[in-house]
Amino acid sequence: MRNIRFSLLCLASLAYTAAGAATTSVRLTVDAANPGHAVSPMLHGVFFEDINYGADGGLYAELVQNRSFEHAESLFSWGTVSRGAEGAATVESADPLNAKNPHYLRLEVKAPGRGFGVANYGFGGIAVKAGESYLASVFARTAADHPVALRIVLEDETGRPLGECRLEGISGKWTCFEGAIKSSGAATAARLVVLATEAGRVDIDMVSLFPENTWKHRRNGMRADLVQMLADMHPSFMRFPGGCVVEGKDLPNRYQWKDTIGDVSERPENWNRWQDAIRGQTAPQYYQTCGLGFFEFFQLCEDIGAEPVPIINCGMACQYQSKQLVALDQLAPFVQDALDLVEFADGAVSTPWGARRAAMGHPEPFHLKFLGVGNEQWGEDYFTRYGIFQAALKARWPDVKLIGAGGPGVDDGFWKLAWEKFRSEAPVDVVDEHYYRPPQWFLENATRYDAQDRSGPRVFAGEYAAHDGQPRRSTLRAAVSEAAFMTGLVRNSDLVVMASYAPLFAKAGAFQWAPDLIWFDNTRVYGTPSYHVQALFGRNRPDVTLPVAVEGPAVVLPPLPPASVATYGAPPLPPCKSGPLPAVFAAAGRDARAGEIVLFAVNPYPEPCSATIALCGAAKIGPAARAIVLTSASPDDGNSFEEPAKVAPREETVAVNGKEIVRVLPACSVTVFRIPAGE
Ligand code: AHR
Repeated sequence: MRNIRFSLLCLASLAYTAAGAATTSVRLTVDAANPGHAVSPMLHGVFFEDINYGADGGLYAELVQNRSFEHAESLFSWGTVSRGAEGAATVESADPLNAKNPHYLRLEVKAPGRGFGVANYGFGGIAVKAGESYLASVFARTAADHPVALRIVLEDETGRPLGECRLEGISGKWTCFEGAIKSSGAATAARLVVLATEAGRVDIDMVSLFPENTWKHRRNGMRADLVQMLADMHPSFMRFPGGCVVEGKDLPNRYQWKDTIGDVSERPENWNRWQDAIRGQTAPQYYQTCGLGFFEFFQLCEDIGAEPVPIINCGMACQYQSKQLVALDQLAPFVQDALDLVEFADGAVSTPWGARRAAMGHPEPFHLKFLGVGNEQWGEDYFTRYGIFQAALKARWPDVKLIGAGGPGVDDGFWKLAWEKFRSEAPVDVVDEHYYRPPQWFLENATRYDAQDRSGPRVFAGEYAAHDGQPRRSTLRAAVSEAAFMTGLVRNSDLVVMASYAPLFAKAGAFQWAPDLIWFDNTRVYGTPSYHVQALFGRNRPDVTLPVAVEGPAVVLPPLPPASVATYGAPPLPPCKSGPLPAVFAAAGRDARAGEIVLFAVNPYPEPCSATIALCGAAKIGPAARAIVLTSASPDDGNSFEEPAKVAPREETVAVNGKEIVRVLPACSVTVFRIPAGE
């Protein structure tokens, strides 16, 4: 038995040891003749929430911030521009564009000079590329008795024009005008200037600028580089829209899907509950335009081959914050919203919501298979409400599998109650479990599902992440511990049918929550070590499990301090005693299409380990295999804009000798072996 002090300090101080210096030996025997269960095809997905500017200012490619003047600070991200002119810019609400978009900007020009108007500064600047085209659009009307025009100018941070278009024919009626602007240069902090060039009054609203090069060149589209990061993970599902955003800080603030479809000018802006949720990380002007709404979500899932997994509000606001509850006799509209969402996804085009989907350009159904009722709810109030949703949803949409909330944590009283309820009076298909815990917890819990009763509901590890250090960082150490845990998910994927790391995106300088999978700014993006772990598992998911025996010295770690496990006020359960850990965490399976055995081997410890991999029961092996390795010089290493690939997988060819591979598993590493093998 190896005694390893797996303290954070200890790991941080131990440098990576060269491959030849392995001090531990382990034998991994994969039994290819005895396949186990099918690996859940939904196992590795992504969790999307509009947190950390993940949607507006992030994945949603709109470059103008506060385009509809609906922020509390109504001219936030706007400034007045006067080019030798005299005029006033005021936010008004009389006779607006529509009732859901009640404010607009009035330009009252006394003397036009070379132009009077406003400039939008985007989300910390507008980033444009030389030679690329951008689509500008503005709703406008005038009080003049003749048609007027607006100049829309893209300028760099020094005021140098990069391109412009003219919007002609503005009349007394609100109308949307569009123009293309080709940028002559690159800029990271450009601004979009709207200029009136004659005296009089012009009202403007929904001032928008999108790159033409969105993902798949869609209008109202997504940032192509960020979607590519998602697509590269091969996610089998996408959870949306959260997360606490589903619940809202209070009920009026909850996510209401019907407000997120149709023409974007008719989607009411909602404030983002992450504005003030985290002390020290407030973002008072963080709003949700819902331009990335439910239609765009379904379409994105289709584009990247992921099953959509919507989560709906169940008549409860955030239980950490307002704790607001919808009375049971007022719950019917909430239940109807859930029923209608499925109809919007899948209903015939002759149904009201199926017709709305068709009108948005997608008459075919989106084939919704799962729906979550409530986000991170707990307690009796939840189960009463869940039961009402469950009865209505199963009656109308019996084939849609329901996901029920398991509470904010696991191994506490809320979680225990959830499982009791879901196993008895509140039938559910899948229980959503969340765990944000230290890296060691993930090692100790790699076997947590091995012995779980298979007769009850399935499990969705709906939000998880290893939280390393304070402030929490995305380190190799955290990622490797997640990988160790994920070997347990693969092994138990007859029970754990879905899993998603959370949160997904974070914008540099504008985040509320770390760690996250993907960091970006207005021009750049990189994946954290945890991103690479998710991608390694997503891209190498086998179809069926194979038994893998690990022989090597067991490892004993000092117990985690109780304070490292948050209980959110739930009644505590007796602490689980963690047993010795394996020398290597492993899971194996067969990828039938590739004709390969896939072996995940995770060495989370501070020493390299010499592994002999024996492959039994396969007719023909090799002659060579691939090893995809994620490691780095120090467990503390992470990625950054400066070093985006410091911790990234590297692929090597490894020799197969007979039916064995001998290979050093570096300290703090994940290795995915892909071994050609006949049945
Ligand atoms: O992922 C961040 C938050 O963590 C989610 O919004 C919430 O469900 C959980 O508490």
